[in-house]
Amino acid sequence: MIRPLHPQEVPALAEALAHMDPWRRLGFSDDGLAGYLTRDDHALLRMVYEQDGQAVGLLCLRSPWLRGPYVEVLAVVPDKQSQGIGSALLAWAAGQNGGNLWVCVSAFNERARDFYGRNGFVEKAELNDLITPGEDEILMRKKLR
Ligand SMILES: CC(C)(COP(=O)(O)OP(=O)(O)OC[C@H]1O[C@@H](n2cnc3c(N)ncnc32)[C@H](O)[C@@H]1OP(=O)(O)O)[C@@H](O)C(=O)NCCC(=O)NCCS
Repeated sequence: MIRPLHPQEVPALAEALAHMDPWRRLGFSDDGLAGYLTRDDHALLRMVYEQDGQAVGLLCLRSPWLRGPYVEVLAVVPDKQSQGIGSALLAWAAGQNGGNLWVCVSAFNERARDFYGRNGFVEKAELNDLITPGEDEILMRKKLR
């Protein structure tokens, strides 16, 4: 089931992300991520994938963004990856309004680049030093119509 994030789920999810690449390598902290997941931000949809009562996947979708929404965070906890949960969250994002779906992926994150490519995203631009000096991000676009 895909539903909004509950505030009580934030500390565990923030900690999981801070210990997982790409956020670990890019230097994100538990506290910084927890702040991002709880602050007032009406253009940010924060959704989770629930399995057996647990939030095992997270999607943060900025909408509106650029003629369609922007996937700001997509993560599945390590022991639940490769079961289709990430694809299900992306499909939910694609079902929102707009003709495009966007995401930025770290250049070093080759598995995620493959994952988005297989889900219909095309690499559009390289953004040097966007989050952390020395690390490039790739802006990817999926045309929805
Ligand atoms: C990328 C990610 C969201 C995909 O979700 P998922 O539920 O594992 O994906 P699905 O089961 O729908 O699709 C599986 C594919 O995702 C990719 N994938 C799986 N584990 C991954 C990982 N640790 N890191 C990056 N990509 C991964 C693989 O291409 C995989 O294909 P395979 O099953 O043939 O190996 C998830 O693996 C994840 O959270 N990875 C770490 C965080 C990350 O890189 N997020 C994207 C940042 S832009």
